[in-house]
Amino acid sequence: MTRHDIRHEIAHLARVEIHTPDPDGTLWFFKDLLGMYETRREGQSVYLRGYEDPYQWSLKVTEGPVARMDHAALRTSSPEALERRAKSLKDGNLEGKWTDGEFGYGKTYEFTTPDGHDVRLLWEAEKYRAPEELKSKILTRASKKPLRGIPVKRIDHLNLLASDVTPVKRSFERHLGMQTRERLVDGDVEAGAWLSSNILGHEVAIMRDALGARGRLHHIAFYYGNPQHNVDAAEMFREYDIVIEAGPDRHGLSQGAFLYVFEPGGNRVELFGDCGFLELEPDFETKTWTMDNIDVVTAIGGTTLPQETYFTYGTPPLDSPEQAAA
Ligand SMILES: [Fe+2]
Repeated sequence: MTRHDIRHEIAHLARVEIHTPDPDGTLWFFKDLLGMYETRREGQSVYLRGYEDPYQWSLKVTEGPVARMDHAALRTSSPEALERRAKSLKDGNLEGKWTDGEFGYGKTYEFTTPDGHDVRLLWEAEKYRAPEELKSKILTRASKKPLRGIPVKRIDHLNLLASDVTPVKRSFERHLGMQTRERLVDGDVEAGAWLSSNILGHEVAIMRDALGARGRLHHIAFYYGNPQHNVDAAEMFREYDIVIEAGPDRHGLSQGAFLYVFEPGGNRVELFGDCGFLELEPDFETKTWTMDNIDVVTAIGGTTLPQETYFTYGTPPLDSPEQAAA
């Protein structure tokens, strides 16, 4: 298959699992402030979904010693696409393993990116069917908008830190058919790449880890669809002592309306006020930003992303035993 043929083999980002040392705080953040529904509890894990997430869960919160991403999973566009992408990964020496899946999802192929992130592919996904009291009158909405906090609609995208951006980007391009919509270069070095397989500007971003660590998470993002909600959420976070890192403002790269906060367990979460730029052209050209316009890249409105955290903090934090042993 040509690169063009495999463009739509990955449908979208389906779910992410995070670990938190403060499960009560993390669940309060996602359920009470971001209005996510709990769909299941099992052992040390709780499964959550936004009111427009189509499946049983988009976020799994698991108690663990340090904040970090456990894994992210992408849904393929067919069962055949899942087999083809797994074969491509194996042929490219990104060996993985098949599992039977877990709550709400079927057979899954698990592999590790060249930088050590756990990424999974799956096709079978159980659609969420709302009970009568949670059914929405809006037919494209999987469940009623809850009356809690400022509720997010759905998971939006994932941003990974990598010690070396380029090999991770190439593996997503070659084996998953994802396209690099925008990139940031620092001289000869790729400082970031923003990839997608659908019309969203990006679903997976990879940014250079300024501390050189491998396989960390920068942030997971949830979608509002209305930039005013970022302002409302900022007020809510301020009132309830959630640490705001930056925003609300709008990125130049992606054109997305952003607000970055830290959930009580320590993972960075972005609220995406709108979807930013949508890519409709089949023959689009990758846009390359350089460091001399980093101010536009980061924030059109003039917000400065804090050097002391934004470009260095990821999860697991570097002082965690887990990261020190890596
Ligand atoms: Fe983001």
